[in-house]
Amino acid sequence: MNEADTPTDVVIGAGSGIGRAVAEALHGERPLIVADRNLDAVSELARRLGPPVTAASVDITDEAQVRQLALPVKRLGALVITAGLSPHMASGRPIYEVNLVGTARVLRAFASAVVPGSAAVCFASMAGYLMVPARPVMAQLERPLDDDLLGRLTAVGIDVDEPNTAYVLSKAGVIRLARNLAAEWGLSGGRIVSLSPGIIDTTMGQLAIDDELSARAFIDPAPIPRLGRPEEMASVAAFLCSAGASYVTGIDILADGGATYASMPPSDPDPEPDPDRAPDPDVSIGVDDR
Ligand SMILES: NC(=O)c1ccc[n+]([C@@H]2O[C@H](COP(=O)([O-])OP(=O)(O)OC[C@H]3O[C@@H](n4cnc5c(N)ncnc54)[C@H](O)[C@@H]3O)[C@@H](O)[C@H]2O)c1
Repeated sequence: MNEADTPTDVVIGAGSGIGRAVAEALHGERPLIVADRNLDAVSELARRLGPPVTAASVDITDEAQVRQLALPVKRLGALVITAGLSPHMASGRPIYEVNLVGTARVLRAFASAVVPGSAAVCFASMAGYLMVPARPVMAQLERPLDDDLLGRLTAVGIDVDEPNTAYVLSKAGVIRLARNLAAEWGLSGGRIVSLSPGIIDTTMGQLAIDDELSARAFIDPAPIPRLGRPEEMASVAAFLCSAGASYVTGIDILADGGATYASMPPSDPDPEPDPDRAPDPDVSIGVDDR
């Protein structure tokens, strides 16, 4: 493969936390662009890692900046999007704009560079599992790049200024985005997945822990009852981008130390029928036989 054929890896959100760890894990022979709206942070990272790593400034809420970032990339290797805002960092609207609309915008901008072996990992969250959005809400989240997402969500009853709802819905939207785009990426030989961390020891994770007793309610009952480390998310992301994951696409990977399911109330399985027990006359079988 000559130099022009070498795919380029891109990490967006590499200025901090998980994104920085992903860049460190991917760093190797291939060109790697580390991008963030915090240019100082990615410049420092690129200096530390050395060539072939280059830094770029991008705000993923800005269409022109995202296009500019994608322009030189003719063949995409890994694309990892960790850029995000949590309810402790922003109000509702910017959370939708960055986490969901921004992620969708990046995927669209890089779509023409997808070649066999390209792989995108979009960071979602275990928060995306906490609520099943009603169908009309999900219908809006499925089309993040159509006009006026926030107006459409408002029209179906969502308070788009509420930051916790924004975080949960934006991440549910990211999970759906990866699922919906898998067929399109597959036509060019590419794969796309979402990755949902539990609570991770980064600036964002610490803000959640400092602010919420409920964060402990997730961690304490988990089979692995501690914060995750950024490196633990990076190694999963690097695997998902690798040839070793060549049969994995269109799915969310939950990497949370088991916290999400441990914190959910136990499901209520149908009890084994007791053959000696007389039928309960008060229990309806769902047929109106009056
Ligand atoms: N840390 C956690 O506990 C946790 C849990 C679940 C999901 N996640 C998700 O993982 C991802 C990474 O989280 P983290 O803990 O590393 O966060 P972080 O705050 O440490 O890093 C996020 C990075 O995104 C960048 N960024 C924010 N808005 C941007 C924009 N508009 N354009 C470009 N860059 C932007 C920031 O500058 C920062 O460098 C996020 O999507 C987050 O929602 C994190």
